Amino acid sequence: MNNYLKMEFWSISSNEGLARTAAAAFFSELDPTFEELADVRTAVSEAVTNAIVHGYREKMGIIKMECSTDELGLFTVIISDEGCGISDIEQAMQPFFTTARGEERTGMGFAVMQAFMDTVEVDSVPGMGTTVKMTKQASIKYE
Ligand SMILES: Nc1ncnc2c1ncn2[C@@H]1O[C@H](COP(=O)(O)OP(=O)(O)O)[C@@H](O)[C@H]1O
Ligand SMILES: [Mg+2]
Repeated sequence: MNNYLKMEFWSISSNEGLARTAAAAFFSELDPTFEELADVRTAVSEAVTNAIVHGYREKMGIIKMECSTDELGLFTVIISDEGCGISDIEQAMQPFFTTARGEERTGMGFAVMQAFMDTVEVDSVPGMGTTVKMTKQASIKYE
């Protein structure tokens, strides 16, 4: 099923749940398994939390989330911020790497996204912002 959703919301932590729920509801139109749905929920949660906590450093900014699905059951979500950006993406994506040690960050956000989604692409320009694009194939109806 072809579909498209775009949301823009403030970078406040209560909106993380809103984004996660919206993405999951959108993806559920493809009749994913319970596990696939949980994976998308978790990955979106990690990406949006990163935009709030790291991108905007808890200051107010706008986060955009775009979701789309295609007729072959592929779900794509793009989460972007115009925050501080990431200077070394490869290093940032290493498991356990965090610039927020001591603030209850585990450094596992990108590792979780990569484990739970089929593809994860990160684009970032320091001072300009960060975009995370992830895809997930819904398996049941589309094998
Ligand atoms: N949207 C973002 N804007 C700026 N920096 C980011 C963003 N997302 C991730 N980062 C950087 O990548 C690091 C690793 O992210 P992650 O794997 O989610 O671990 P954690 O959030 O626990 O630090 C963060 O500590 C931060 O330095
Ligand atoms: Mg994180």
